Amino acid sequence: MTAVLEATGISKSFRGLQALRGVDISVEEGQILGIIGANGAGKTTLFNCITGNFPPTSGTVRLDGADVTGQPAHRLAHRGMVRTFQLMRPFHTMTVLENVEIAAMSRGARGGTARREAGETVERTGLGEWADQLSGSLPAAMQKRLELARALAMRPRVLLLDEVLAGLVPAERAPVLDLLENLRDTEGMTMVFIEHIMAAVRRLSDHVVMMDSGAVLATGSADEVLTDPQVVEAYLGKEASDA
Ligand SMILES: Nc1ncnc2c1ncn2[C@@H]1O[C@H](COP(=O)(O)OP(=O)(O)O)[C@@H](O)[C@H]1O
Ligand SMILES: [Mg+2]
Repeated sequence: MTAVLEATGISKSFRGLQALRGVDISVEEGQILGIIGANGAGKTTLFNCITGNFPPTSGTVRLDGADVTGQPAHRLAHRGMVRTFQLMRPFHTMTVLENVEIAAMSRGARGGTARREAGETVERTGLGEWADQLSGSLPAAMQKRLELARALAMRPRVLLLDEVLAGLVPAERAPVLDLLENLRDTEGMTMVFIEHIMAAVRRLSDHVVMMDSGAVLATGSADEVLTDPQVVEAYLGKEASDA
């Protein structure tokens, strides 16, 4: 099988700080790759380099085999790759539905089509009863769903998720996990997700990459990585939880 998304030798320096040191990841079509690692390991920076927020200092990003290194986020979105942000960025003075509609319009849907698609996405992400609320007034769990809804409204084939479960209580996580699993299983969506909740990593990941200090420390199945003594020593012993 060929990789839909492949990042090779990704390095990123911020002035003196080397945040990424030659990171390689690769995801095949319809698979979910989980990325774990302590805060500051470089996970979000890897997403930023892959999804066009800023170019890597060195390394190559390939989408469907084409070199897309350094291409801006809107162009990558047109090619089918979309990400969510760890810190949410909705327009707080718009309603939930309007926020999702804007996302649908950003990939070309117009007028009634954009509104209809936005309505479907709002329902699918469990935001139906919040559709007409100002997004700034949403509880945290619903803001997380809005971030996901805005990404899905762009109809990605490749979706990158940065801690979409953070701040959610277990009962709020289950519907999000169900939705992600459903997107893979029924639409063949390819995903990369950064996550600290190990139960979610175990459930969703076809493969796991563990990052430490800007480098990949371990890669393999969830079972292999989560029981790797180096991973337990560097990460799991300290901060991860199944809570
Ligand atoms: N825009 C930036 N400018 C300077 N330093 C940054 C920037 N983004 C991230 N960093 C630094 O890079 C390192 C990795 O951060 P980050 O990728 O956010 O880690 P993670 O998502 O794994 O918690 C940290 O030391 C962080 O302070
Ligand atoms: Mg992060």
